[in-house]
Amino acid sequence: MFEGFFSGGIIKRALQKGLIEINVRNLRDFTTDKHRQVDDRPYGGEEGMVFKPEPIFAAVESVRQSDKTPVYLLSPQGRRFDARLAEEMARHPQIVLVCGRYEGVDERVAEHLATDEISIGDYVLTGGELAAMVVVDAVARFVPRVVGKEESVRHDSFFEGLLDYPQYTRPREFRGMKVPQVLFSGDHKKIEAWRRKKALEKTRGRRPDLLAGRQSSPEEKHLLDQIDNERNKR
Ligand code: ADE
Repeated sequence: MFEGFFSGGIIKRALQKGLIEINVRNLRDFTTDKHRQVDDRPYGGEEGMVFKPEPIFAAVESVRQSDKTPVYLLSPQGRRFDARLAEEMARHPQIVLVCGRYEGVDERVAEHLATDEISIGDYVLTGGELAAMVVVDAVARFVPRVVGKEESVRHDSFFEGLLDYPQYTRPREFRGMKVPQVLFSGDHKKIEAWRRKKALEKTRGRRPDLLAGRQSSPEEKHLLDQIDNERNKR
């Protein structure tokens, strides 16, 4: 599953440049029985299978370089992964991600091995691998020099708690659809102000939850009032 992810785009380049290193472990290689069994039936009786703790503890111990290395268990029960957490993860020299499957993972992994349990969203995937790739991708972007201009990472959606402003490129007019005039003004202050307002407008419309958890400057409050007035008029 991981091969495709490693072999293209920014992740491939970061690996080649040695900016990041990714080591994948197969839990079956950390079993001790003949059948290389990583799962078993749940105590208490229920359908499905549950990951056994021993292979997970052994696999994590084989890769963890320090007691300080955080271990994240990926599961729908986890705390929500976001840009803040991605940036925090990127500051560690190493992180370990544990992927679950089946009905779940023996709770002793969450309680005694994992630093934190992480979910990438309110839906259930067939396995944690895809979630791990999502996390690695988002974290890698915060590793210095992985993304061309480090600056751009800090201006991306969510980093400042807002969605991105809209972008346009040539042609100036396409099937009667025009690029906003302000972008040709050459007035950088004006363009900056327009972008800020558009970002706020988008965030207000689609993700009011992001604004609710945000300390707005007086200038931003003013813009938001303006946006609300314009919306009410429509
Ligand atoms: N494994 C299955 N679903 C998941 C989710 N939403 N987030 C993280 N890991 C998962």
